[in-house]
Amino acid sequence: MSTRSADIAEILGRELGAGRVIGAGDDRLADYGRDETTPAMLPEGLVPPACAVLCEDADEVAAVLRICAERAVPVTPRGAGSGMVGGALPVRGGVVLSTERMQRILEISSDDLVAVVEPGVITGQLQEAVEAQGLFYPPDPASLAMCSIGGNAATNAGGPRAFKYGVTREYILGLDVALMGGERLRVGRRTAKGVTGYDLVAGFVGSEGTFGVTTQLTVKLLPLPPGVSTLLAVFADVRAASDAIAALLGRGIRPRVLELADRASIDHVRKRSRYRFPDGAGAIVLLEVDGDPDALDAQVLRIGQDCERHGALDVLVAQSPTERRALWEARRQISPSLREAHRTKINEDLCVPRGAIGEMLARVDRVSAEVGLPVAVFGHAGDGNLHVNLLVDDDPADPAVKAQIADAVGRLFAETVALRGTLTGEHGVGLTKRDHMGVEQDERVLEWQRRWKAMWDPADLLNPGKVLPARRRACTE
Ligand code: MLT
Ligand code: ZN
Repeated sequence: MSTRSADIAEILGRELGAGRVIGAGDDRLADYGRDETTPAMLPEGLVPPACAVLCEDADEVAAVLRICAERAVPVTPRGAGSGMVGGALPVRGGVVLSTERMQRILEISSDDLVAVVEPGVITGQLQEAVEAQGLFYPPDPASLAMCSIGGNAATNAGGPRAFKYGVTREYILGLDVALMGGERLRVGRRTAKGVTGYDLVAGFVGSEGTFGVTTQLTVKLLPLPPGVSTLLAVFADVRAASDAIAALLGRGIRPRVLELADRASIDHVRKRSRYRFPDGAGAIVLLEVDGDPDALDAQVLRIGQDCERHGALDVLVAQSPTERRALWEARRQISPSLREAHRTKINEDLCVPRGAIGEMLARVDRVSAEVGLPVAVFGHAGDGNLHVNLLVDDDPADPAVKAQIADAVGRLFAETVALRGTLTGEHGVGLTKRDHMGVEQDERVLEWQRRWKAMWDPADLLNPGKVLPARRRACTE
C-alpha cells in the first residue's frame, strides 16, 4: 500500500492522538529537519519530513513503525537533535520519530550497578541522578546537558572520560528495540558478565538508528570515584604539548581525561573563559585524575612536575569545584566560540593511533596551508581523537569555496587513514561521512554491512540513506 506523505500525519494522529503529531503547517516541523550538523556539509536534495511524531512509550514507537512499514513510508529516528553528522535528518521525507518525551529513569540499582532508562533521558540528568546515590555513569559527550542516552547509544558516543572509562557501548548491557514493521525485541542482559549468543547489543549500539529504534536501555554503572583532581598545563605549541602527553602516558599514568587544544582554539575561547590564559599560550592540556583523595594530591603534583619538565609555561591545579568548573567551561566553550566567530566551521572528529598524534597535527597544518583554510584543533588527545575544525569565512555555497572545503576534508581523511586512523572517533558517519566510507573500508566490508542492514530492514525504510554509501556500479563500457 502506498501512502501520500501528506496523509501519514493524519493516520498517525488517529492512532496516537492529535497533539502527538507535528504536521505540515506547524512551525515546529522545521526543527525536525535540522540538528547540530553544519549545513554546508549536508548533501543537496534532502527531502524534509512530512511530519514528526512525539512517541511517549514503546507501544507507540512500535505502532509508528508498523504503520509506516505497511505504507512504505520512511522513518527517521531522532533523540535530542544534538548530532553533528546529519544522522537524524530525513533524506527521503516521511516521518521523524522522536523519543524526546520518553524521559523516565525507571530504576537505579546500587546492588546490581545498573540503571534502566528510557531513550529520551538527558545524559547529564542521568549522571546527576546516579551520582546522588553514590554511583557513576562515565560517558560524557560535550553536549551532555542536551543530548539523550538513546542518541548516545545510536552513535556510540564518546567524550573526554572515554580515555579511562571507554565509550557508550561499554556501558550498554541490554536494549529493548522496536524494528521496522513493529516487532519488539529485548536483547542483551542485566548481568555484569554474559556471553550467551551473538552480541546483538554491540551491533545495535552505533548502528545510528538504521537497525531499530531503542525504547529502553539497561546501562552499567560504577561506584562514584571518591575524589577527582583537575589540572591545566599551558605549552608554547602543540608539539611540546604532545611530547608531554607521550611522556606522561609512557610513564603509565592513566588519567580519566586527557584533552588538548591548540593556539587557535585557545585564542577563540579566551573572551569567554574565566581562566586567564597566558599570552604565549600555544596549546593547553586539560588532565583529570580520579580515585582515592589521599593519593590524588601527590599524583597531580608529579604530573605537574612532568609537564614542567616538558616545557609547560604554566600549570594550574583546580583548588575548588568552582575552579574546576571554570576549566571545564573553557574546554566546553571551544566549539561554540569557533562557531560564533566564523561563517561556518567544519568539524571532523578524526581518530589516529595515540602514537601518531604529533604527526597528524603536523599533517593537519600542512593540509590547512596547502588548501588555504585556517584550522583549530582540540579534542581527546588521550584517545588520539582530534576535532579538526576548518574555519570558513567565505560563502560556503560558493562553488569555489565548496570545492576548497571538499578538498580539505578529502585530504584530512586520506592523511588519517594513511596513519592507520579512522574517520570518526565519536560523532558517527550519518550523512556527512557516508560517501567517504570507501577511503577507510574495503568494498567487501561495506557490502557485508549492507547485508546486515538489510537483515533488520529489508525494505530500507528505517533511517535510509545513512552510514553506508551506495554500491559502486560495475563499469560496463
Ligand atoms: C567536543 O568534544 O567538544 C565535541 O565532541 C565536538 C564539538 O562539539 O565540536
Ligand atoms: Zn568530542
